[in-house]
Amino acid sequence: MSRLAAALALAAGLVAAGAGRADPPSEISVKGSFLERCGGCHGIGGKSASVLVPDLRDQVGYFLCTPEGRRYVARLPNVAFSAVGDQRLADIVNYAVFDVGGASTPKGAKPYTAAEVGRLRKDPLTVVDLTAQRRRIVEDVIARCPAAAGLRVYGSSPASAGPVEGLKP
Ligand code: HEC
Repeated sequence: MSRLAAALALAAGLVAAGAGRADPPSEISVKGSFLERCGGCHGIGGKSASVLVPDLRDQVGYFLCTPEGRRYVARLPNVAFSAVGDQRLADIVNYAVFDVGGASTPKGAKPYTAAEVGRLRKDPLTVVDLTAQRRRIVEDVIARCPAAAGLRVYGSSPASAGPVEGLKP
């Protein structure tokens, strides 16, 4: 089996595992889940410590300016494969977008539902074309919401040109 095929098989297994997994007990807050599942990379409060990981604070909400941007958020591998059930993942994504995203989230944007996240995570983006897809999505978002221009910073320096390359040990 090629490495790519092996990676895809692993990813499919993770999706299946994630989909069947029970949500954590309700005493674990959504913020706690965000810190546990996302905070290691994105930082407490959505300010990441590395150029290899985009900031979420005050800018992630811009992705909801376009339907594709909205889908992008839930199709990201690190989101789609997160080992929580659909409801908790929707709660985490909503926390990321509506709390961490602050004023960047368009007025009137609807929260993600468990059904929506469940559908999107079954169609995750592949790392192979993620960088190019993000660039295109970001340009569409900026065309609709010019205030989102800061989204261009991630991926513009050679160090962060490719998340896959960049994250290799
Ligand atoms: C292993 C590190 C890692 C983890 C864990 C992680 N992310 Fe990410 N995240 C990234 C990287 C790197 C990117 C840039 C796109 C890519 O390569 O996936 C990103 C991109 C994003 C974006 C799009 C931001 C942009 O400007 O493109 C969102 C939204 C996001 N992550 C949310 C989350 C949420 C919510 C979680 C937890 C469920 C999470 N991430 C977990 C590393 C991580």
